[in-house]
Amino acid sequence: MIVKTEYFSQADIEKNGNKFIIGNGYLGYRGTLEEFRKTELVALNMPGVYDTLPGKWTDSVNAPNPFYTYLEILGCEGKKETEILHPLKSKIVSHKQGIILDEALHFRETVFQTSQGNLTVSSKRFVSSAYYPILGMEMNITPKNPMEIVINTGIDKEVWDQFGPHLESGEASVQNDVLIYVCRTKEKGLNLTVQEKIAYSPYYETYENIENFPDKLMRIIKVRLKRGETFKFTKLACITLNQAVEESLWGLRYQKHYLMHRNCFRERFNSANIQVEGDGLAQLGISYSIYHLLILAPHHKKSASIPARGLSGQVYKGAVFWDTEIFMFPFFVLTAPEVAKTLLRYRIDSLPKAIQKAQEFGFSGAYYPWESIEDGVDACSLFNVTDVFTNRPIRTYFKDKQIHISSAIVYALDRYFKYTGDFSFLTEDTMQVFYEVALFYYSRIYNSQWQDRYILTDVTGPDEYHERVDNNAYTNYMAHFSFEVFLKYYGLFWSINQKSIIRMEDLKSKLSQVLAKLYLPKPNKNNLIEQFDGYFALEDISIEELKKRQLHPNEYLGGAWGLASSTQLIKQADVLTMLWHFKEQFSLDVLKANYEYYSPRTLHTSSLSACMYGLVASLIGKLDDSYRFFLDSALIDYEGKGGKYAGGIYIGGTHPASSGGAYMLMVLGFAGVRFEGGKITVKPNLPPPIKGLKFTVNYLGKLYQIEIKGSTGSVTGVESM
Ligand code: BGC
Repeated sequence: MIVKTEYFSQADIEKNGNKFIIGNGYLGYRGTLEEFRKTELVALNMPGVYDTLPGKWTDSVNAPNPFYTYLEILGCEGKKETEILHPLKSKIVSHKQGIILDEALHFRETVFQTSQGNLTVSSKRFVSSAYYPILGMEMNITPKNPMEIVINTGIDKEVWDQFGPHLESGEASVQNDVLIYVCRTKEKGLNLTVQEKIAYSPYYETYENIENFPDKLMRIIKVRLKRGETFKFTKLACITLNQAVEESLWGLRYQKHYLMHRNCFRERFNSANIQVEGDGLAQLGISYSIYHLLILAPHHKKSASIPARGLSGQVYKGAVFWDTEIFMFPFFVLTAPEVAKTLLRYRIDSLPKAIQKAQEFGFSGAYYPWESIEDGVDACSLFNVTDVFTNRPIRTYFKDKQIHISSAIVYALDRYFKYTGDFSFLTEDTMQVFYEVALFYYSRIYNSQWQDRYILTDVTGPDEYHERVDNNAYTNYMAHFSFEVFLKYYGLFWSINQKSIIRMEDLKSKLSQVLAKLYLPKPNKNNLIEQFDGYFALEDISIEELKKRQLHPNEYLGGAWGLASSTQLIKQADVLTMLWHFKEQFSLDVLKANYEYYSPRTLHTSSLSACMYGLVASLIGKLDDSYRFFLDSALIDYEGKGGKYAGGIYIGGTHPASSGGAYMLMVLGFAGVRFEGGKITVKPNLPPPIKGLKFTVNYLGKLYQIEIKGSTGSVTGVESM
């Protein structure tokens, strides 16, 4: 399946950078053209590698680009001038750019008009799924008339940074015809090595020279081509951090690497992809979403996670949010349980920092970071947005009050056991996470004596526009869930290793008393659940009214002065997310009433919102709505519709949580798949354009094929894993 564009427009450079991104969990390469540099937002993003400059926000590091290439046409008789070809300056006759989804391969083909006739440049590139530090590229150059061409290709030392520069200028060298550029990250002094080697047929009459410029290390290859003749070269590059590349693999040829990569990615893609019958748009949406999730999977490590903006750059500090556990995790646990385990291991390993954070805020247990970077350090700033009018930072209560983050980790861990049955993962470490999170919420609840109940005050729920509220329904239910889960696994673990958890017994007995009295906001007489205490008393205005009041399209709507804060308009699914998580506890009438109430009051200014509305819509039979929300989630990066600014802060990039949401919506919503007591059941809710679905999922160590046709479905065991 191919996703492509058939024209070039400067206005689409940022969008295409996201839309046509390739990656392998270790490295992301934005969908930019070879002639582009930092001004066009080229980024080879390294998730999990961070750098912070004094007084500035953290960024994940972007590596120098070893595929930087531009062409020059040398003057000939009558046309003495040398002509540099560049998409932003030259005349373009035709242009194609895209990705082959099941190969994770980026391609482009541009026909430039030059003073000596047309010239076609085409390229392909991949970031290897088979051996992670390696990436490859192939370029073909074909002039319509005889031409003398200079190919400038090498390593672009200049790097796009948001809060950089993060790389010290490094050392360039050439060894055995390999270009090597070694630089260091500023804060931690990590050695980042970029190597590049090229191959082309000796049959061509070429002259090659290497030059080290302050901003680039380049090969300058002069070649004389006949009419219609193609000059083809291939490149391999290798980007390593404080480590050496495995010579036996680095020594392989381009074609071998390409095939290894293609076979590996294709297998992953085909086993995860969903076949949609009767609806090309939904097919595109789901395959495109699955592609985006697969290129993020950290296969290169046993403990790593996925940033909220994937591998598309440094937005949101390259940090990991609840996006991973609540929105992307279901995809991984059902299609690649070993990746799901890697994601969880990252959180288990970062427990010490979560414990430290809880202590810093005067609590006990584990308070996971809102924006998690290496080792689980919280990168979230207390002033996370800027005011568009004054350019001053706005105090936001994300880091200190979004306590629902800890429960997200517990939620994913619980899903892991439920879906995989892999209790070998229920070790002391894992048990410790259940314990510390429960302890955190225990230390955070208050006993309201006059109401005779435990409450959670001063929190920020998923809807970030209303900060510092009391008894946010989502947070309270998730805290309650965290208590229950701890008690459940405590019981299970007791039979595994009683000795190691005896120290947790005290909390166990305290929770048994607290559980029944933790306040869980219930539906009122109209079946509505109040998002937080006092929400229904806020000004009830329409979205149109809010838009009329807006003075600037990007003004921040939350916080102390935000236009939404004093109204019932919310940023994203909040009560609806809670209802999806705990759907078994509520009647259809309650689901319906809340869906109808909160829908017109939700701005969906977070990409995490649409899928939750879509999931609840599918439960209540609003199939047109669920379909619309599916397309919104699945095609957000295809259409480039994600928000670009939060206040004055740039927040562009890819939206993998939304891709994960699209997967959930199709599997759990449209197909209505449920996993209970060792059995998979289906209860299809296919929106009209979709006639059928076919996919496989992993459940309890086995692979099952699920086939939906109209309103019926079947589940068949495929093979034992
Ligand atoms: C949303 C959060 C989300 C974050 C990263 C914010 O706009 O409100 O819920 O975790 O973006 O995607």
